[in-house]
Amino acid sequence: MRAFVIDRYKAPLTLREMPDPRPGPGEVVVAIAATSVNPIDFKLRDGEFKAVLPMAMPLILGGDLAGTVVALGMGADRFRIGDEVFARPDPIGTFAERIAVAEADLARKPASLTMAEAASLPLVSLTAWQVLVERAAIKPGDKILIHAGSGGVGTIAIQLAKHLGAIVATTAGPDNLTLVKDLGADIVIDYRHEDFAEQLSGYDVVLNTLGSDVLEKSLKVLRPGGKLISISGPPDPAFARAIGANWIVRQVMRLLSARIRRKARRLGIDYSFLFMRADGAQLADIAGLVDAGVIRPVIDRTYAFGDTPAALARVESGRARGKVVVQVAMP
Ligand SMILES: NC(=O)c1ccc[n+]([C@@H]2O[C@H](COP(=O)([O-])OP(=O)(O)OC[C@H]3O[C@@H](n4cnc5c(N)ncnc54)[C@H](OP(=O)(O)O)[C@@H]3O)[C@@H](O)[C@H]2O)c1
Repeated sequence: MRAFVIDRYKAPLTLREMPDPRPGPGEVVVAIAATSVNPIDFKLRDGEFKAVLPMAMPLILGGDLAGTVVALGMGADRFRIGDEVFARPDPIGTFAERIAVAEADLARKPASLTMAEAASLPLVSLTAWQVLVERAAIKPGDKILIHAGSGGVGTIAIQLAKHLGAIVATTAGPDNLTLVKDLGADIVIDYRHEDFAEQLSGYDVVLNTLGSDVLEKSLKVLRPGGKLISISGPPDPAFARAIGANWIVRQVMRLLSARIRRKARRLGIDYSFLFMRADGAQLADIAGLVDAGVIRPVIDRTYAFGDTPAALARVESGRARGKVVVQVAMP
């Protein structure tokens, strides 16, 4: 099969003939119709996570898929050949024509979406779910600030937070103010001309997707007892423990997050880092919300499979509105 791989960290993405995947026990093979790009793809390429997540080379990048089940492994009995599915597979490798995926990572594709639309959702919607439902336990009336509302995570997090009954503030650039309003945001702050920390206070939760300056400033927005949840770092000791990191990595993570944890603690705010995980059952719940019209995908651009490097560059520009999708097979 054809796949886009890197041969070493920082190497360009190259189209290559790779062995066809065979399904292991509890796995199915999916013929990928579409995939989408996330910032983690270029971060993995650049070796940003190599201390925590060392990857074997050559590495097929890509963490989202929508496609059709074409083979079943031993004991795989939740899906049938021909089923249309979507997933954030673990391990990754969706910039490819096929992949073997654990059944536990898969869910049926939302019936109301095209393959391209469905492929835009898994990684970002699981992230939004795990932040808002699991970690923050958002309830009606909670006030949440979602940074970068026009991004892949932000566009879904706004919709899910509104569904959970939250009052949602978001930061977005001048060209994206209408988009985030249409997605349901109650308070929209133009980050290029306004200072969110001067406008918001007494918030219960902040979802941070940006750098350390925005992270620290976000403390001003939260009430004592509020939660600052960051998905863009720095990782904290709880995360280090959760992934079973060795002593050295644990100390590095402790140091990296020492400053924000100290500042948060002084204000009575809970700082935590979240790294999303694959979860087919949560994805099935998300598919239900999509088919009920609660969550809709937001697609920036769709690229042909051969143009996957250009799709990656588009995400790396930091300017995408919603998700950048790659059509692997013609619809
Ligand atoms: N830990 C995890 O499990 C996890 C999961 C998913 C994502 N992430 C991380 O979360 C971050 C966001 O991911 P993403 O997929 O949402 O990224 P993305 O789609 O690439 O974000 C791009 C968007 O961010 C907006 N933006 C850029 N700077 C901004 C600022 N200062 N204020 C407000 N908006 C700004 C851009 O709008 P303008 O063009 O108007 O600037 C653009 O629409 C990345 O660092 C990613 O690696 C982590």
